[in-house]
Amino acid sequence: MNYLAIKHLHTTAATLSILFFIIRAYWSVTGSGLLQRRVVKITPHIVDTVLLVCGVTLSVMLGAAGMQPWVLTKMVLLVVYIGVGTIAIKRGKTAKTRGVAAIIAIAIFFYIVGIALNKSPASWFV
Ligand code: HEM
Repeated sequence: MNYLAIKHLHTTAATLSILFFIIRAYWSVTGSGLLQRRVVKITPHIVDTVLLVCGVTLSVMLGAAGMQPWVLTKMVLLVVYIGVGTIAIKRGKTAKTRGVAAIIAIAIFFYIVGIALNKSPASWFV
């Protein structure tokens, strides 16, 4: 697969990741049973794995250019996004905690999009 195809897969996975997350966070806050469905539990793992694997592959293909601070910041923040996301979806005890965690996770996601587009850890604040 060439660089552009992987980049396309990467951005598609990123889009699916945030869309699925928003839907699941909504179900989590409203206490919907849909969250317990097998497909709802498994799909995000596949999407997030594709997102990460494609990101790492792009960095490796870029060589030295892929080892810059903005790429490393994305890696760290992807882990934080997923971690805060699990509070929003399952670890948060009250609906309020889960709702606040969901908003923080979504903010982190859009910060990462800013990093990607501006190629700077400062994201939208360059
Ligand atoms: C939530 C997580 C992520 C989001 C939303 C995201 C988003 C994006 C977007 C929108 C682009 C396209 C930028 C452009 O059009 O110029 C991109 C490119 C890229 N991303 Fe990510 N990304 C994420 C995670 C990661 C991770 C974890 C890595 C590294 C391990 C990574 C490495 C890269 C690289 C190397 C490029 C290619 C830059 C280029 O060729 O210009 N991304 N990402």
